[in-house]
Amino acid sequence: MAMNLEELNKIANKMVAPGKGLLAADESTGTIQKRFDKIGVQNTEENRRDYREMLFRTDKSMREHISGVILFDETLRQKAKDGTPFVKLIDAAGAVPGIKVDAGAKALAGAPGEVVTEGLDGLRERFVEYHRLGARFAKWRAVIDIGKDIPTYNCINANAQALARYAALAQENGIVPIVEPEVLMDGDHDIEACEKVTSWVLQEVFSQLFYAKVALEGIVLKPNMVVPGMKCAKQNSAAEVAERTVRLLKQHVPSAVPGIAFLSGGQSDLDATANLSAMNAIGGMPWPLTFSYGRALQAAPQKAWSGKVDNLDAGKAAFAHRALMNSLASLGKWKQADEKAS
Ligand code: 13P
Repeated sequence: MAMNLEELNKIANKMVAPGKGLLAADESTGTIQKRFDKIGVQNTEENRRDYREMLFRTDKSMREHISGVILFDETLRQKAKDGTPFVKLIDAAGAVPGIKVDAGAKALAGAPGEVVTEGLDGLRERFVEYHRLGARFAKWRAVIDIGKDIPTYNCINANAQALARYAALAQENGIVPIVEPEVLMDGDHDIEACEKVTSWVLQEVFSQLFYAKVALEGIVLKPNMVVPGMKCAKQNSAAEVAERTVRLLKQHVPSAVPGIAFLSGGQSDLDATANLSAMNAIGGMPWPLTFSYGRALQAAPQKAWSGKVDNLDAGKAAFAHRALMNSLASLGKWKQADEKAS
């Protein structure tokens, strides 16, 4: 299929529309197991369906605050209890259905402590099927860890090359690639270390995208924010995270990119919202900055639901609240007091 850049650009712009962001509901069966374990829910196909149906049927929030939903293979093919395909529910809310296509991070040979994301084999054929099933964007997550003597250039380069090959294949098949190089916030490194590594990673990613002839007008970048490791003794303010992240992005991300949608990466719900809002409050950026959160949008609804039919309304309310808070943050308008008001 010849690439239609105009169409890709239209989809990408829709994904970062003002006041909206992405819901990352693409947990693999193994990852959702970890989330369900925390709330004592059995990881059955039915429970996974009921949980995700609760989110996708939070109608007003889906319509007003969610531009797109990242799905896992099973969910893209799944139907709601009444037989409506999930893709239809998402479409009906005016949001774009998307698909996680990577096969996860595996140990990188010869590189102790480092990983590379797999999933390129057969990807062209999978994209053809995913497009037929209704997906209009995709996600591939590369994982870079900070530790003693890591990351190495070998790891950054291998991951950036894979991201670029994935992105080129997605565009070839009419699908907008979310390019997600995640520098992990595990560990005890400080904010400077995160800034340095993220800078190196973004530099390499945009080089490889260039060599692979990926059209920047048809991607969405999903980066980490510049934050200290979770175990670092010094935790920085939202203002400092915002200033460093915006400075770094301006140094590395061409203005041709339609938008940037951050991952939450293990930040608390409130930090993820406060940091995003602080960035947008700075203003004057060439691209919209929004959210593509998994945990920071779902931890609260998961807890409120806890697998009980009687809690469906409470689960929806918790999701609606975080979606609204992050929508405000994407406009730079969130205030701590809003947490109580809604
Ligand atoms: P988190 O916001 O939980 O980091 O998930 C986003 C995501 O899609 C990670 O790949």
